[in-house]
Amino acid sequence: MATANRGQWSGKTGFILAAAGSAIGLGNIWRFPYTAGENGGGAFVLLYLAFVLLIGIPVVLAELSIGRTTEKNPVGAFKALVPNSLWPYLGGLGVLTGFGILAFYSVLAGWTLSYLYGGITGVYGGAMTAAESTAIFEHLIGDPTLSISLTAAFLFLTVIVVRKGVSGGIEKATKILMPLLLIILVGLAIRSLTLPGGVDGLVYLFKPDFTKITGSVIMSALGQALFSLSLGMGAMITYGSYFPKTENLHQAGMMVAAFDTTIAILAGIIIFPALFSVGVAPDAGPGLVFVVLPTIFGSLPGGQLFAIAFYALLSIAALTSTISLLEVVVAYFVDEKGWSRNNAAWILGALCFVLAVPSALSSGGSEMFTNFLGSGVDFLSWNNIIWGNYSLSLGALLITFFVGWKWGIPAAMESLESSGHKLPGAKLMGVLIKFVCPIAVGIVLIYIIVTQQYF
Ligand code: PHE
Repeated sequence: MATANRGQWSGKTGFILAAAGSAIGLGNIWRFPYTAGENGGGAFVLLYLAFVLLIGIPVVLAELSIGRTTEKNPVGAFKALVPNSLWPYLGGLGVLTGFGILAFYSVLAGWTLSYLYGGITGVYGGAMTAAESTAIFEHLIGDPTLSISLTAAFLFLTVIVVRKGVSGGIEKATKILMPLLLIILVGLAIRSLTLPGGVDGLVYLFKPDFTKITGSVIMSALGQALFSLSLGMGAMITYGSYFPKTENLHQAGMMVAAFDTTIAILAGIIIFPALFSVGVAPDAGPGLVFVVLPTIFGSLPGGQLFAIAFYALLSIAALTSTISLLEVVVAYFVDEKGWSRNNAAWILGALCFVLAVPSALSSGGSEMFTNFLGSGVDFLSWNNIIWGNYSLSLGALLITFFVGWKWGIPAAMESLESSGHKLPGAKLMGVLIKFVCPIAVGIVLIYIIVTQQYF
């Protein structure tokens, strides 16, 4: 069987680290704070947490169960479970979404490389005002050659790891670095909380103002929960397919969700007190984190080292996420189309680069992409919303519908418990997967279409 040489994680820890590596990334540190800021703070955060619990965790388990049973990429997995049906197209949507996300994510990831370089050359060693930091950021994103080169560099790094395969590349890259990121984040959070005026930031982040909830706030919170946990496109199907049969899969999945959510909240605890302290608006948009963070480093003892460590780890966190995005696409071409892993990684990486160019030009480099279709919203943000919110939500809806109504909860549970570890609260989880997830996500999507609050 082809599965013999697909590779496997070296154990449960290897999987947790790799899956946490996929989940933890710019979604937590860039996307969560800026989306929370744009959507009014506390109420959004509460909705996000509710979606992680009620939708995120059931979808994690649904995807992992499919992956473990079939040991296949998303398309192959649905083919194996229901041959000659339309379901494999759901896997196809996942592969396409992975590509769509990678094509804008790699642009942002490229920016982190530039900040890492700035850290090394001492740009963030001293005090910096919000205006100075904004100028640095705008210079970077508006420079087309720089943005495109950084995107290429980041995709290159991604290809280098993915072409080597599952445990060889992906696992080793994550093992020590994710815990280190956590430590740095805790250090930054302590600094941020002790800044003058920082408490206002915490109030903004955690005190819900329910009058701020609109359809698009709900949609953004749902999208954020799925995006951050790498759900709705088969990344967890693919990663679950490499999970050792003897280990406790559901516990590993829950740990990844807990770890990921902790990092996002921690990023919020860093960004919001700092932005109130230096006077940046919470709804400043996608540049928020890039502008706010450099203003903190200068006030830290050993600020430059802190900046270097932080941007190095952020680049690595982004890399372990881009690896998982490319891995889904590569696994499909390797398993289903018989490509060699090496060729698939290079060809698809190159194709993705071409598709990423408009996003790299959309922050000032080209007027057409900066104000895409006259919408006032840039091309990168369009992609972030289309792939990151809508496509993932549709994917999550259909995956839970599939597990609940087609494949069946008993089969999913058998897969999750096949190592002999019972899933605590299995009944409740079954109800969440079968009813709550598809219905809730369906209602949100229909509501958005009816009220046309797309952004
Ligand atoms: N979860 C990743 C992050 O938070 C992004 C991602 C989304 C990765 C979907 C894989 C699939 O950065």
